[in-house]
Amino acid sequence: MTRESWRTRLGFILAAVGSAVGLGNVWRFPWMTAENGGSAFLVVYLAIILLVGVPGLLAEFVIGRRSQRNPAGALYRLSSGSKSWGAVGLFGVVTAVVLLSFYSVVGGWILRYFLASFTGGYFGSPGQYFGAIDFGLPAVGFHVGFLALTALVVVGGIRDGIERATKVMMPAIIVLLIALAGWAVTRPGAGAGLSFYLDFDGTYLRANFFDVLGAAAGQALFTLSLGVGTMITYASYLGDDHNLASDGSLIAVLNTGVGVLAGLVVFPLLFATVGELTGPAAAGGGPGALFVSLAGAFSQLPFGQPLAVVFFGVIVLAALSSSISMLEIPVAYLVDEFGLERRTATAALTCLVLVTGSANALNPGLFGFVAGTLVDLMLTAGLAGFLVFVGWVLGKDAVTEFSSGAGSRVRSLGPAWLWSVRTILPLFLLGTLAVNLLALAGVSLF
Ligand code: PHE
Repeated sequence: MTRESWRTRLGFILAAVGSAVGLGNVWRFPWMTAENGGSAFLVVYLAIILLVGVPGLLAEFVIGRRSQRNPAGALYRLSSGSKSWGAVGLFGVVTAVVLLSFYSVVGGWILRYFLASFTGGYFGSPGQYFGAIDFGLPAVGFHVGFLALTALVVVGGIRDGIERATKVMMPAIIVLLIALAGWAVTRPGAGAGLSFYLDFDGTYLRANFFDVLGAAAGQALFTLSLGVGTMITYASYLGDDHNLASDGSLIAVLNTGVGVLAGLVVFPLLFATVGELTGPAAAGGGPGALFVSLAGAFSQLPFGQPLAVVFFGVIVLAALSSSISMLEIPVAYLVDEFGLERRTATAALTCLVLVTGSANALNPGLFGFVAGTLVDLMLTAGLAGFLVFVGWVLGKDAVTEFSSGAGSRVRSLGPAWLWSVRTILPLFLLGTLAVNLLALAGVSLF
């Protein structure tokens, strides 16, 4: 059986942007921004996207396109059969399952809010509503529904499933977000939200530099879908004629644009609320507070209800286009390495995540640990592994792959890119990992 490939360049780009744009932009980014000083966080985050994210994205693309395999198979083959490197790739495959196990729970919340927006079910008392549905059996139910939608796309394969779905979803998301941002920034009180988001506060940054750095690094990897092998897997369905560097930059720019745009919707609304919860304190109160404050905002603003339908509809689409990229990693692994049919592989993994996700949906403590700490650590470790692999195992071959399909300007960047992938980028990631691990163990260095 020949391996599938993307139908068009645009199809690949939209699928990769679809993976990148997700709950990370709309839910995790405002949560992290609010907890880490607003604009101070934004600046550090943008710098890391540019300096670490884009080269990291290209490293994953190089591994994927060169090997035409899932992450585990890719590292194993490209290292001429090293089991240890295969294990590094497999770590990515496992991370994808861990990630999907919490992502699908949040996807379920969103799905529920989308449906409830039609009737305004949560408008009366947003706080109580969220408290009643966040964990427990209702959360399990919606997690299963969201997971089923994800599986439905993945089972269709690359062209007829993922490419076809994301080609419709991504333009819809962008158009609707622009419209929502136009509405949100003109709400009364929006100015306070905008200045929290956009006015740079150097004092906060100086006082909390390492915390901000750690959170921004984790968020930058999360939002670009790095460190798991998503981009390895998606690029494995690419041909040699692609200019990886220009595709990668475009993907990063589009993802960042959508992220910033989502901030323009979320922050004005958070500050425009005049109810039980307002301002950054509410947004910073953990993963659920955003739902509560936003739902509160929609319930109080004119035209709030129809716009809530649009808003949560956009997030459902964004979340789905990301969750399919998570499920695709282990599916590709089972198909490539064990010759399973796509249908069988998808069914088996859906059953697995059904169970692991339900554990998160039933246990808030577990959920918080997985969604916040564990995922940051796993992504950082995973990307460090991929970079060391590209820098030291592929070496010059990586530059050849980087250059294939590229013009002379991009080619001339190859050696500098390889140097950074060999040295400062893995050091930066391992440093972040060490600080985060120490913080987890209760040791504070700074
Ligand atoms: N980038 C996605 C988001 O921002 C999450 C994601 C992470 C997807 C890692 C795939 C792999 O929501």
